[in-house]
Amino acid sequence: MSGPKIPLKIRLFLAVHSLSVNAVSSSDSNSVNRSLLKIFDPKASPAPSTKPDNGVVSSDVMVDPTRKLWFRLFTNTNNTAATAADVSLPVILFFHGGGFAYMAANSVHHDALCKRFAREIPALVVSVNYRLSPEHKYPAQYDDGFDVLEFIDSPKFEGFPANTKMQHIFVAGDSAGGNLAHHVALKACRHEFSRLKLCGVIELQPFYGGEERTESEIRLAGGPVLTTKRTDWMWKAFLPEGATRDHEAVNIFGPNSNSNVEKISESAFPATLVFIGGFDPLQDWQRRYVEGLKKCGKEVYKIEYPNAIHGFYAFEEFPESSLLIAEINSFIHNHLNL
Ligand SMILES: *[C@@H]1O[C@H](CO)[C@@H](O)[C@H](O)[C@H]1NC(C)=O
Ligand SMILES: *[C@@H]1O[C@H](CO)[C@@H](O)[C@H](O)[C@H]1NC(C)=O
Repeated sequence: MSGPKIPLKIRLFLAVHSLSVNAVSSSDSNSVNRSLLKIFDPKASPAPSTKPDNGVVSSDVMVDPTRKLWFRLFTNTNNTAATAADVSLPVILFFHGGGFAYMAANSVHHDALCKRFAREIPALVVSVNYRLSPEHKYPAQYDDGFDVLEFIDSPKFEGFPANTKMQHIFVAGDSAGGNLAHHVALKACRHEFSRLKLCGVIELQPFYGGEERTESEIRLAGGPVLTTKRTDWMWKAFLPEGATRDHEAVNIFGPNSNSNVEKISESAFPATLVFIGGFDPLQDWQRRYVEGLKKCGKEVYKIEYPNAIHGFYAFEEFPESSLLIAEINSFIHNHLNL
């Protein structure tokens, strides 16, 4: 079988990326050399209102300084203008990917992706900077994600433009951020908020797994982008000591998942949109996740891009990245429950 078509520039970027990830990660999953990683993970400053980036303004909001929990808020200047005062915007709460161990809300590629969302989707984007493993293991990331929801739900929080439709929240994320979106949404739909209403979940190539080796994990064990060796490392760095990949955080509908099935079936888990790429080793787990949600009686949409590699959405050169934005746009439009 032939490999995916990847432009040379992106190939080089991905090669450097995986070399750097290997260089900073200890083989026992116990540490990441953060000071060395800084060199390979350039950060973007917020775009102030005096200097919008192609129509998008961003700012950082501190949630809890004791654990350095903050988010970057992206707004389209067109939507905050007085002329748009009658347009109410939903909120996309976004979790960046990076195997729970790498990247940040201000990493250049995730900053650019969120700007693109804010530019092309009529929504406010909140990108969460959660704590990373292995320094902070499960469930620190899920706690951080949920705590940001509670923070923006509080009537005391006034950091959004006046035309924000606070009750309309979509929880989203890519890769490990997609896993986070699922777990945060599951907790959120079993919780009473004062203003928020969870309207949907959007998962870009979400990171799920299990002890079993699926066909796609075997076929694409060596990449591109993600290797099975690296995903095993990420789970070990994330999970409590001694847990297996059949942990309910990882294998959502696996052998230890009775409580997941029960919780999901009984809750008002919202409509879910899942993107799957044909060159992603994780694709079989993602399809099982979609089937599992269906079995629980939930509304779920699966979008398959046969030529897509893991992380394709970070590169505008891939035509699927524009298709993805259009799909998210119509999903949000169709799920703005009044
Ligand atoms: C991180 O990597 C740098 C550069 O290789 C090295 O000097 C430093 O000692 C490493 N830090 C740790 C904690 O291993
Ligand atoms: C703002 O609105 C103008 C006029 O409709 C449009 O041309 C431009 O692309 C918009 N900019 C953004 C960032 O959405």
